[in-house]
Amino acid sequence: MSHIETFDTTTAGRKPVRVWVDGCFDMMHFGHANALRQARAMGDYLVVGVHSDEEIEKNKGPCVMKEEERYAAVAACKWVDEIVKDAPYVTTLEVLDEYNIDFVVHGDDITTAADGTDCYQIVKDAGRYKECKRTVGISTTELVGRMLLLTRDHHIRGSRTVKSPIQGVDEAAVANFTQGSLPAGALTGIAHYLSTSKKIIQFSSGREPKAGDKVVYVDGAFDLFHTGHIEFFKRARELGDYLLVGIHDDQTVNAIKGGNFPVMNLQERVLGALQCRYVDEVIIGAPYSVTKDVLEDVYHVDVVVHGASDQPLDIDGRDPYELPKTLDIYKEVEHPRLDLTTTTIIERIIANRHVYIERQARKAKKALAEAEAEQREKELKAALHL
Ligand code: CTP
Repeated sequence: MSHIETFDTTTAGRKPVRVWVDGCFDMMHFGHANALRQARAMGDYLVVGVHSDEEIEKNKGPCVMKEEERYAAVAACKWVDEIVKDAPYVTTLEVLDEYNIDFVVHGDDITTAADGTDCYQIVKDAGRYKECKRTVGISTTELVGRMLLLTRDHHIRGSRTVKSPIQGVDEAAVANFTQGSLPAGALTGIAHYLSTSKKIIQFSSGREPKAGDKVVYVDGAFDLFHTGHIEFFKRARELGDYLLVGIHDDQTVNAIKGGNFPVMNLQERVLGALQCRYVDEVIIGAPYSVTKDVLEDVYHVDVVVHGASDQPLDIDGRDPYELPKTLDIYKEVEHPRLDLTTTTIIERIIANRHVYIERQARKAKKALAEAEAEQREKELKAALHL
């Protein structure tokens, strides 16, 4: 195990309450971030243990994101003070003592190891366990499910065709996908998350730029928020004091990227960006081309930053960065992870399609068994008038 200290928190006159959360954090999404937010609010310092690829493979099958990507995703969450790499799958008292932890927080569902034992039984028995509310409507399983339904033997993105080695794809999904032009979830009906203003407020930094602060603007789809986005935000943020992120709406992303993109809808993508420690504010549904309104109406933008990659033109055929280029406020940063994009993540899933389908089926069976057990317990309680 090794750890990275990201933050230092001090509490006046009392011992800080140190909280531990552990997990896989595969394709880190706003449900994970919401658990970390709640856990951080229960104490003063949040340590997050992230399992290695090997540990996860042994206990529940392969991850989509590699361990270094998962470590980086958790470390970039603004409620995390420290991460511990290669944390044990079953939480032990030894690990809690090593990091001077008061208690563990986990979402209100049962997590079991490969042998069926509750991963938190030891810490529950020791009275060092608390629960937070799991976010309904989002999970890694759900995201993988959306992408499996999007499967076909190639993705067409403008003129670029990405070949996949997988044969035997679901013809109906292919047909739906190629027809495209529908927002995420509309086609598959599996975008279950119900967005509320409260959740946006909880995730929002509430920060405003101070007088003299240099405001940086970046925009994009930020679909399946990943390490490539995080590194890009970090670099853009370093070029100023305040990072404003424009997030394109579902119709815009779909018109530009085609097929059934985006995988996550606008509200989900907004929460994904807001949980990132480098983001100060977002524009929900920013236009694809940077307009005068974008540069003036929210805050006065000093610099517009874009990753150095070929950027599709706007639907009217114009360069979306024409205005900032004319105003000489346009800058490019080297894209640090060109190998990691929303498309390459989808390709990973397609390449391992059979493994993931099996994993999805196992998860669904487990969820059904849990729901039935809960129903039986309810009926028993009702029968006993409890
Ligand atoms: N979590 C949550 N809400 C979600 C998903 C996860 O609160 N929608 C919480 C889990 O309960 C756990 C933490 O995030 O406390 C890390 O979860 P992880 O180990 O990655 O596993 P899963 O619960 O399986 O997450 P997912 O279903 O997304 O794979």
